[in-house]
Formats: sequence, C-alpha cells, structure tokens
Amino acid sequence: MSAKPVPLLEATGLNVHFGGKGLIPALRTPPLRAVNDVSLSVMPGETLGLVGESGSGKSTLGRAILRLGELTSGEINFDGVDIARATLGDLSQLRRQSAMIFQDPYGALNPRMRVGDAIAEVLRVHRKVPPEWVADRVAKLLNLVGLDAGYARSRPLDLSGGQCQRVGIARALAVEPKLIVADECVAALDVSIQGQIINLLMDLREQIGMAIIFIAHDLAIVRRLCDRVAVMYLGRIVETGPTEQVFTTPRHPYTASLLSAIPDIDPDRGLPENPLAGEPPSPIALPSGCAFHPRCPKALPVCSTGEPPQLGPDGPHRAACILPPGEIRS
Ligand SMILES: Nc1ncnc2c1ncn2[C@@H]1O[C@H](COP(=O)(O)OP(=O)(O)O)[C@@H](O)[C@H]1O
Ligand SMILES: [Mg+2]
Repeated sequence: MSAKPVPLLEATGLNVHFGGKGLIPALRTPPLRAVNDVSLSVMPGETLGLVGESGSGKSTLGRAILRLGELTSGEINFDGVDIARATLGDLSQLRRQSAMIFQDPYGALNPRMRVGDAIAEVLRVHRKVPPEWVADRVAKLLNLVGLDAGYARSRPLDLSGGQCQRVGIARALAVEPKLIVADECVAALDVSIQGQIINLLMDLREQIGMAIIFIAHDLAIVRRLCDRVAVMYLGRIVETGPTEQVFTTPRHPYTASLLSAIPDIDPDRGLPENPLAGEPPSPIALPSGCAFHPRCPKALPVCSTGEPPQLGPDGPHRAACILPPGEIRS
C-alpha cells in the first residue's frame, strides 16, 4: 500500500477583507470580502488553474497564499510549515521556495537595471550560489527561458514584451521554487507570443517539476495547461475538479455560463471579458444566499436565502450548487 500523497500547499478557510477598519465605528466602511472562506490544495508538481471574471478575487488569493498581500484569517500549510502564522524565518524559507510571475512584464522589472543584474539580485538575496558563480548561473537561467546569455546586458526597455516575460520567469526560477503563482502572465502579450510562453512554462514544469497556480481568464489556455481548475465567483471557489471533467460536465451554472461563451467552432479562442449578462455584484454588498443567484439562469427561490451553499460532495469534482449535476447545463 502506498502512502497518501502529501500536498505541497494546503490552505484552509482563507479570508481577505479590505477596509472595515477605523477607530470611529460610525465612519467605518463595510468590509470588502475579496476572498471569502476559500480552501484549496496543490500537490507537488501540479498545475492548478484559477479562473473567474475580473474582480472575483484571484489576484488577492494568489498574493495571500504566498504571503505577499493581506491575509485576514485562515490557515496555510506550505511544505510542512504553517505560513499563516509564520515567523520571519519561516517566511524567508517561503520566499526561497516560491515566486510570483505578473501580468505586466515591464512593470515587474526595474527599468534602469540590466537584466543580468535583476536576476543576480535574486541569486544574491537568497544566497543561491557563491558570488563567483553568479554570472554563470544568470547565463544558465537566461538559456533555460530561451534567451541568449548576451541579454544579461540589456535593459527591460530594449526587450519585447515576450522577452521581458521570459526574464520575469528566469527571475522566478532563480529561487528554484517548488511553487510559482503566475497571475495573468500572458494576458498582456500577442496571441503568438502567448503560445510561446505557455510552451515554455510546460517545458519548465516538465524539467523542474514545480507546482504552478495559473491565474487566467482565458479558459482555452487553462484547458491546455492545467491538471485541475478552481472557478472563483465573488471571492469564493464555486467549483473545482480535474480540468477535463469541469470543462465537459460543469457542475455549477456559473462555470457552465463561462464555458458556453467559448464558441465551439474555434476552441482556441479566448473568453470574452464579460461573457455573462450584467456585472457581478459588489463584494461589499454580497447577495444573500448563493451570491450567483441574481445572474443564475437556473436559480430557485431557495437560492436567494440563507447561507451560501458549500462545495460538495466530497470527491475530486465538487461544486457549490444545490442543483443535481444533471440540471446544470441549459
Ligand atoms: N488593496 C485593495 N484594497 C481594496 N480593495 C481591493 C484591493 N485589492 C483588491 N481589491 C478588491 O478586491 C476584489 C478582488 O480583486 P482581485 O483580487 O484583483 O480580483 P481578480 O484578480 O479576480 O480580478 C475587487 O473587488 C477589488 O476591487
Ligand atoms: Mg487579477
């Protein structure tokens, strides 16, 4: 009998609330629940897609998981360490084992710093190699992301968007991370360049075996890249499961709406920015009951009352909806 596999990351009951503070109660703004009771896990080497409309809390969740942003409450176990209540020492261990890649490849780099120095900085801070080996490691990292070592002397503005994103990936890889959070890391690039960067990530995952949380609103890319997917709506995960199961038999009407917006004739086409009728409500004034009920084509009277439904039942493919799985697709 083999031992049960241990997740690299296990987050339980995460909340990130903005505002709602202040000394004078009458002046307080109500809290904005950007992440609302989210639990998720990532296995070593696994790629988890995090999808949902703009404003659903994906970036806030990604930053909270790496302790790069606010975390109001919850537990995060990363590689055996409780990093929600981490000491500075624990956090520096986390920094040595995780990294984030951002949407804007230029914004993530200091425009005055040469590319080689930007990568060397990471190596020095984390004492990855002795000083005399830094230049050699920078060259190897550039090669790993498909850039000639000569690019070490370039500055960000000399590079194209795709080259710049490769440098961002090289900086992330410099720490030799067990987990990378990639936040819309190809959204700002041309479609042909997007494909190259996705292929690079797939190659690197194969070579290095790091886990990836891949945040995207482009479902076609998520389907290609991710082992599992979690769908967020207004700060909550409303559906999670193996990618193919979620794409072929969605169990939440929100996921079904997102998927129905992808034209069948061209499966590689991305998702329109706003595939559903209307805007999501504000996370400051969440609807009662299931937060999706005002936009849900299948809503029943009971969906607008009480507590929001929990993810269920247990198993790899779960959704937070009271409808039987057979009744989700219109
Ligand atoms: N620093 C902040 N202060 C206040 N509200 C924020 C802050 N960051 C994000 N939000 C709000 O939290 C919600 C989730 O935002 P975000 O995580 O950026 O969503 P996504 O990445 O899915 O587009 C949004 O309503 C956004 O306006
Ligand atoms: Mg975002």
